[in-house]
Amino acid sequence: MVGNAHPTKLSSIIKMTLQLDRVVPWGRSLADYRDMFALSDDDLQREILDCASGPSSFNAELTAGGGRVISCDPVYHFSREQIQQRIDETYPVIVETLHRTREKFVWDDIKTPEALGEQRRAAMAQFLDDFPDGMSAARYRTDALPYLDYPDRQFDLALSAHLLFTYSAQFDTDFHIAAILELLRVAPEVRIFPLLENFTNATSPHLAPVLQALSDRGHHAAIEPVPYEFQIGGNEMLRVIAA
Ligand SMILES: C[S@@+](CC[C@H](N)C(=O)[O-])C[C@H]1O[C@@H](n2cnc3c(N)ncnc32)[C@H](O)[C@@H]1O
Repeated sequence: MVGNAHPTKLSSIIKMTLQLDRVVPWGRSLADYRDMFALSDDDLQREILDCASGPSSFNAELTAGGGRVISCDPVYHFSREQIQQRIDETYPVIVETLHRTREKFVWDDIKTPEALGEQRRAAMAQFLDDFPDGMSAARYRTDALPYLDYPDRQFDLALSAHLLFTYSAQFDTDFHIAAILELLRVAPEVRIFPLLENFTNATSPHLAPVLQALSDRGHHAAIEPVPYEFQIGGNEMLRVIAA
């Protein structure tokens, strides 16, 4: 068995419980990932896991450029057509929500929710084009935190954006700690972005206990500024180096 669960059993549980009508697909690009995680050219040469990758084009773009990356997300249980349909359903809702909550975001580079939506839609189209081939090549995998079906230290670097801390109301502190420890099992360095909750823009209440739990286990965790800010105040990532 790899990891700390029975992946086959777990995967079937997730498949049963993951409902596409609860997923709001919204994916970012390689350029966004570079900024969210302060990724250098050297970082992009490393063996990377992108966890909770959704319909991001990071894998498609990095692979096309010769990079080595696996992306995992339970939404990959669904077909390209199902994910496309869900994107089409939720896209107008997200743009409308951005209009209602626009004072919570930075509109310096991208001026309107529609302009942002077009950028996201372009990234998601690139993902969808790549998804069938990427599934066949096992570059897209269905693993869900806090259990990953990879050997210890398969990767050099694990990234996770817009799941941990973002969904602080849905996932408790124990989940966050277990998820980050699992990412540290498969990679000696983990970067997580952002550290704010969705909608409120408040620092996640899980951050302080997570930092304590990591320190208790001898891991080195640091909050670092990054050149990406869309949620106001959301310009920091957590970098963890395994003990
Ligand atoms: C908002 S998307 C983020 C996509 C991408 N990382 C980005 O920043 O553009 C969040 C993703 O987390 C995925 N997710 C939900 N629960 C998860 C879990 N337990 N483990 C891994 N991914 C999960 C969802 O399916 C969704 O695609």
